[in-house]
Amino acid sequence: MPDRVPVLAANWKMHKTIEETERFLAEFLPRAPGSGPEVIVCPPFPSLKAAVEHCAQSGVRVAAQNMHEEPEGAFTGEVSAPMLLEIGVDGVIVGHSERRQHFGESDEALARKVPAALRAGLEPILCVGENESQRDSDETEGILTRQIEADLADVPDDRLADVVIAYEPIWAIGTGRTASPDQAQEAIALIRARIESRSAEAAAAVRILYGGSVKPGNASELITQPDVDGALVGGASLDAGDFAAIVEAAA
Ligand code: PGA
Repeated sequence: MPDRVPVLAANWKMHKTIEETERFLAEFLPRAPGSGPEVIVCPPFPSLKAAVEHCAQSGVRVAAQNMHEEPEGAFTGEVSAPMLLEIGVDGVIVGHSERRQHFGESDEALARKVPAALRAGLEPILCVGENESQRDSDETEGILTRQIEADLADVPDDRLADVVIAYEPIWAIGTGRTASPDQAQEAIALIRARIESRSAEAAAAVRILYGGSVKPGNASELITQPDVDGALVGGASLDAGDFAAIVEAAA
């Protein structure tokens, strides 16, 4: 089985101006590891360029929180992969549950976005996860299977391992109610099995993260689960010291 390099990604959502981004990075970068885990910050669009410039001499990479699948066109309010690449962005979060819930991001759109990001040379971080009532009614497996199959349908088997997948149970996002290490492991193993049904090689190599109320105090027990390859961190990633502590827990 190939060694999977852990990924720790900071999803800032709609937080941090350029000035706040620079202040965060001035505190965080000296604590970021020079090697080891892949560390990614995901600021809002206006702060991306400043983040790229500040991270240039570090191993820390920068990703956006959304993109449109077309390179250009009449899509008011949207941003394309070439625009992100031009400013030095490395990756992009797609399918976050907040975008699915509040902005109507569909599996059909994701089926176009994920391969478009890969073709353009961006590392997609694809989020999947069930809500509370789906978990309570034992639909988790079906939901994850449907999302993984639909969202990755047009990604060729030999590129599946270039996608980073984040399992983010909606009931754990921003609620302080973290999935237990067993729940995270079980869901992530299930996602890996879905990938394995297409390619054993990709399943062994693909990084699958856990996200949902990850904090310095619980990061280590989640990340050390056998199938959990890191974390996508929201609230706790807004504080440079907390995010540094989470990265250290994985290193
Ligand atoms: P949270 O968010 O860590 O604040 O729960 C995670 C996410 O939405 O990516």
